[in-house]
Amino acid sequence: MLIKSLSKSSSILTEADVTPESIYHQRRKFMKQGLYGLAGAAFSGMSPSLLANALSFKSTAYGKKETLTPEKAVTTYNNFYELGTGKDDPVNNASQLKTDDWTIEVAGHAEVTGQFSLKDIVKKQQLEERIYRLRCVEAWSMVIPWVGFSLADMLKQFKPTSKAKYVEFTSIYDPDNLKAQKSVFSTIDWPYKEGLRMDEAMNELSFMATGLYGKSLPNQNGAPIRLVVPWKYGFKSIKSIVKIRFTEEMPQTTWNQIASNEYGFYANVNPQVDHPRWSQASERRLPSSFFNLKRIPTKMFNGYEEQVAHMYKGMDLKRYY
Ligand code: MTE
Repeated sequence: MLIKSLSKSSSILTEADVTPESIYHQRRKFMKQGLYGLAGAAFSGMSPSLLANALSFKSTAYGKKETLTPEKAVTTYNNFYELGTGKDDPVNNASQLKTDDWTIEVAGHAEVTGQFSLKDIVKKQQLEERIYRLRCVEAWSMVIPWVGFSLADMLKQFKPTSKAKYVEFTSIYDPDNLKAQKSVFSTIDWPYKEGLRMDEAMNELSFMATGLYGKSLPNQNGAPIRLVVPWKYGFKSIKSIVKIRFTEEMPQTTWNQIASNEYGFYANVNPQVDHPRWSQASERRLPSSFFNLKRIPTKMFNGYEEQVAHMYKGMDLKRYY
């Protein structure tokens, strides 16, 4: 397979190089104090095995005031149907996902298309941390510190043409390893697909995550690269992306194909439009337990109204759900 090179430059991704989980919070404190640059040096004596998977990234203001969902909940309560339908299937079956030598195919209406190595794509980006709320259509939510880069910055590398009105994303298809993709009981027409309107994709909030909690993405969270669109229901945030295609027509998307009366293309978080089978007015912020099922009100566009409402001006959001 031909793998194109995007650039000859070799900017640095993984830092000095690394930060073990135990000092993650300490490092965040460093960053808050503007001492980020010193953090790598301060911890550079750590053993390589301890430091595996840690990423270098800059801090941002996104979500700084939020209370984070504990890492354990973020990485053990997942939706990733390629690894099973139960909430703990993805963590238990995580080893089925093979992420070595990952490539992404870029196709459709763009000047730069072809097969690119993920390393090459990521090399051109400055990693940053953004804390976003994730609201699942099933009415649970989390607050996650993602590491990654702006989707717009990445897409600009491929120079989409004026015919590109939408972007379609496709997840890995590997039935030899991902057992669920072979299952006769699966309702999904694999591979999992999602899409965004071009202006949504170019919105400042749209994010490509390669990590969370300061480390590379765990398989169950969509390694090695996934989308995060925080004002939309979680199913839009497609995991383990292998293909990006610029299209003129609105792309077909997995959940819309399965049940179009329940899951629309837009899937904007909207407390006023209920799912046909349950209310979307409130949500269960994880971690919750049998003894703590407290719900919080769901906000329009998941609380990101200021950044995104302008894109839907004049649209009937009951119709375009
Ligand atoms: N992407 C793929 N490829 N397969 C999936 O099953 N599930 C979606 C989304 N991305 C899914 C996916 C759903 S329904 C949600 S809520 C989020 O991933 C969950 O992300 P998380 O497990 O990291 O919290």
